[in-house]
Amino acid sequence: MARMTVNTIKEKKARQEKVTMVTAYDYPSARLVEEAGIDMILVGDSLGMTVLGYDTTLPVTMDEVVYHTKAVTRGAPQTFVVGDMPFLSYHRSLQETIGNAGRLLQEGGAQAVKLEGGRERAATVKALTEAGIPVLGHIGLTPQSVHSLGGYKVQGRDEEQAQRLIQDAKALEEAGAFGLVLECIPAQLAQQISQVIAIPTIGIGAGAACDGQVLVWHDLLGITTGKKPRFVKQYAALHGNIVEALKAYKGEVEEGQFPQQEHTFKGRVESIPKLYSRGGVCN
Ligand code: KIV
Repeated sequence: MARMTVNTIKEKKARQEKVTMVTAYDYPSARLVEEAGIDMILVGDSLGMTVLGYDTTLPVTMDEVVYHTKAVTRGAPQTFVVGDMPFLSYHRSLQETIGNAGRLLQEGGAQAVKLEGGRERAATVKALTEAGIPVLGHIGLTPQSVHSLGGYKVQGRDEEQAQRLIQDAKALEEAGAFGLVLECIPAQLAQQISQVIAIPTIGIGAGAACDGQVLVWHDLLGITTGKKPRFVKQYAALHGNIVEALKAYKGEVEEGQFPQQEHTFKGRVESIPKLYSRGGVCN
């Protein structure tokens, strides 16, 4: 299957076909996403929480996103990959921003970058687009502003906020963004935004009227523990499956059931069970 491009992603909206996106942070997950035929991968700065164990996305660095993006693009060479610009990597100057975003394409192998913010980021989006770096915008709940927003709260609930978000969406489209993530805003507002801009909206907690959806890998697969956001649908319950598998392994090793002993003859190993992740090495 040919990799999506900014044009084919935009064309999906024109054809009223939904765009699919999921986060991934490493080689094996990227391979699985590609095998599933999902349109786009986001190497989100959510990796700070899902993979690195931080409380927010704020500590994530440019080097960390580049590192994870490299692994993802190795695993999904045919999938459109978006690298997330971490906190303060696109705020200081246009020169620094272009340098940082360029790293995600040049070193990471991504096809585009994502950054948070509305009209105040329009000049940045324009500069990146003009430098040949496609940009996915992100408005609504913007987790890098968690402290200014006073927590992870639904945005755009009152009329004034809603109007601001509509203006933000238009400004980002005008600046050249090829798409827009809408995070945690009322479904009706997301529908309105999706109708007034021609570029696709990718929703997360923003209802069914968006032109596409994105979910975080760990949420979608049920790897996350604790309270999950209301909008998340878990399509698997891997946390339980993984713990069960690990317990089974522990039990079998402790009881001498693994590895199997009956295959050893005069101290020489005649048959070793298949090593699943290293096919061909030691079958
Ligand atoms: O970092 C991330 O994973 C994101 C998505 C939640 C859109 O920004």
